[in-house]
Amino acid sequence: MKVVKWALAVLGIILIAIQFVPVDRSNPPVESEVVASVLVRDILERSCYDCHSHESKWPWYGYVAPVSWLVVHDITEAREHLNFSTWSRYSVEERRGIWSEIREEVEAGSMPLWFYLPLHPQAKLSDEDLGTLSDWAERHGQGY
Ligand code: HEC
Repeated sequence: MKVVKWALAVLGIILIAIQFVPVDRSNPPVESEVVASVLVRDILERSCYDCHSHESKWPWYGYVAPVSWLVVHDITEAREHLNFSTWSRYSVEERRGIWSEIREEVEAGSMPLWFYLPLHPQAKLSDEDLGTLSDWAERHGQGY
């Protein structure tokens, strides 16, 4: 029993200590917003912007290590892949590729990431949202 108590104490200390590891939870300025109709923008903002933009709303668990490390990691990676806040940095060709990927991802149901949805039910794409996004991406993209 003594061992268990010690182990728990050590674990507790570690959990407290890691809260002090600095985490970059920044939202850099929006450089250039993706150009889209109000309808499409609404859906993107509701379902994608927390990860794929500089307007992330950091959730409370984004402040509790070690979960916060995962959140920061996902957002950093998501922004590297696709960032709606630095849209003009993409070449015409890159944008086409992105639109095709958006279509693939949303039609396959891979985005938004599944584990994000239980805590953000408003981000779930309805059939109508899916159709709107998919049409938007198809109009601009290069097909499959
Ligand atoms: C909870 C965070 C999160 C949300 C919300 C989210 N994504 Fe992602 N997305 C990621 C991450 C992380 C990656 C990179 C790793 C991967 O592909 O799984 C990614 C990758 C992508 C890619 C692939 C880009 C590439 O280069 O392969 C596309 C396209 C994409 N997301 C579109 C969307 C769209 C559209 C939405 C909204 C309907 C959305 N995502 C919502 C986290 C997110």
